[in-house]
Amino acid sequence: MIAKDVTAPTEAKERQPLYPDYLPHYDPLEKIVPVGRFEHEDPGHRADPNKPNLLKNATKVFELSPHCGTEIQGVQISELTTEGLDEMALMCAERGCLVFRDQDFGNIGFAKQKEIARHFGPLHKHGWMPHPKAAVHSSETEEFVIVYDSKEDLRIRKGWARKSPIQFHVDQSPEVQPPGMTFFCMLESPPGAGGDTLISSMTRAFERLSPSFRKRLEGLQALHTTAGPVSRELRDNGNGAVLRRPINSAIHPVVTVHPVTGKKALFVNSSYTERIIGWDDEESEYLLRFLFDHVNRGQDFCCRVRYEPGTVVVWDQRITQHSQTLDYQPGNRRHAFRLTPLANVPIPSKIEEDDGQCAQEEERVILNLC
Ligand SMILES: [Fe+2]
Repeated sequence: MIAKDVTAPTEAKERQPLYPDYLPHYDPLEKIVPVGRFEHEDPGHRADPNKPNLLKNATKVFELSPHCGTEIQGVQISELTTEGLDEMALMCAERGCLVFRDQDFGNIGFAKQKEIARHFGPLHKHGWMPHPKAAVHSSETEEFVIVYDSKEDLRIRKGWARKSPIQFHVDQSPEVQPPGMTFFCMLESPPGAGGDTLISSMTRAFERLSPSFRKRLEGLQALHTTAGPVSRELRDNGNGAVLRRPINSAIHPVVTVHPVTGKKALFVNSSYTERIIGWDDEESEYLLRFLFDHVNRGQDFCCRVRYEPGTVVVWDQRITQHSQTLDYQPGNRRHAFRLTPLANVPIPSKIEEDDGQCAQEEERVILNLC
């Protein structure tokens, strides 16, 4: 295992970035064409449940917490076969997230990185987060999301200046087909400790609720929208704001079913879920606040991933939520990239029979958004 960099903070601040090709570029004029609807076949369906291809070179496999997270040592993601990647999808669906150490993933180039991630679905193109600097205006990198926090780029810090950085969320849940498997590759992490990711099991979050309360949630739908993050991008960056596409919204079940495991999961998050469809404002706010607090309190169903150089974390957004920590010293460099394959239209855990009023309300909400 590569040792954690313990360089003194002042020294690290002056060091040049290790991955200049992956430095962030913000282009306020850039536009993108969203992926659009597609048929999704989950690789996890094809996987051998014993995972012989994924784990044959593993030297150590251990759980990070009982309900979420498994660390796998000795396996190079870049060397996995198609069957190995299928098994990764299944294991991730079972455990929520997988942590791989000492990876060469950050050094194999844009094309190979995308090829591996695309195994799990077409890659999402982000509406406001930066792309790599190396290939601006090139289709080569428009699917990359760069996370960069350093003394020369305080954009992330600025964005969180007036709220808690602990915000459990699903990346891009307002997509009609939100992300499934997601790759987060750490290029440079702060010296010493800090910048961990908290990942929480929404399967367990749902199971922890009482049976009658779970029944009440099933059949409900909620509106997810990028309106909040887009307005913050404008507020924080003014003329330099990046808005590659208009605000997008989608209505999803409050409780979903994973297409491979069949397990139910809570699918509302504080970053994007705005309201419960068909409920009055006060009712909706009351329920969502309870559910967000339930996730925030869920120390017993989340894990904490500490990064080392070469760490790659993959998580399944359909059954987890995650949060940054932003606990390291301002000015220290944290540099990572994310590739975000899209997956299935969320599957409702239960389809309520109704008299059509819910559909009318759904139509009204959509019309008001347009
Ligand atoms: Fe995220």
